[in-house]
Amino acid sequence: MDVLAVALDDCRTPRLRPLPQEVAELLRDLGAPPRLVAHLRAVHEVAGQLLDWVAEHCPALELDRGAVLFGAATHDIGKVRHPAELSGPGSAHEPAGRDLLLEHGVSAELARFAAGHATWDAPGTRAEDLLVSLADKVWKNKRVPDLEDRVVAELCRVGGRPGWEEFLALDELLTRIGDGADERLAYQAAHPVLG
Ligand SMILES: [Fe+2]
Repeated sequence: MDVLAVALDDCRTPRLRPLPQEVAELLRDLGAPPRLVAHLRAVHEVAGQLLDWVAEHCPALELDRGAVLFGAATHDIGKVRHPAELSGPGSAHEPAGRDLLLEHGVSAELARFAAGHATWDAPGTRAEDLLVSLADKVWKNKRVPDLEDRVVAELCRVGGRPGWEEFLALDELLTRIGDGADERLAYQAAHPVLG
């Protein structure tokens, strides 16, 4: 299975925007497993949907859109070095992903998502980090109240609306995104774990 094709080809069912070109080329150069590339593409799509919603719903929340998309597209890249974590538990891929990106000339600012996507309560966690973590959950319709509360807090902080209103608005969005989970899961499962 051609890595670049998995990363970039038009995909309508489910609708998945292509990965950033530089990420697609890095995944090809690394010989990334198709299952991983498919996963990154699904999470990247959902991150894009979250960004589009924030831009419309709460434009006061300034986000580095490129960083969120890059972070979503690379968050699990460390699984190239820890392929057992593609189908089983483990967190060795988190620091490994950051190191791998740094070795390939990616800035620490962008490489941080690979190390931090599974934690959202560390000091210095930004709205961009929350969105990458959230995308990595809701792509498969997994709901994490603590993480969602932090996103609501960010929306309230800058938008001035009450918490209950932001909570309902976010819940409606995540329910809608979650409705596409079965298609995304089937898409990911159709790609082999081994190249
Ligand atoms: Fe992931």
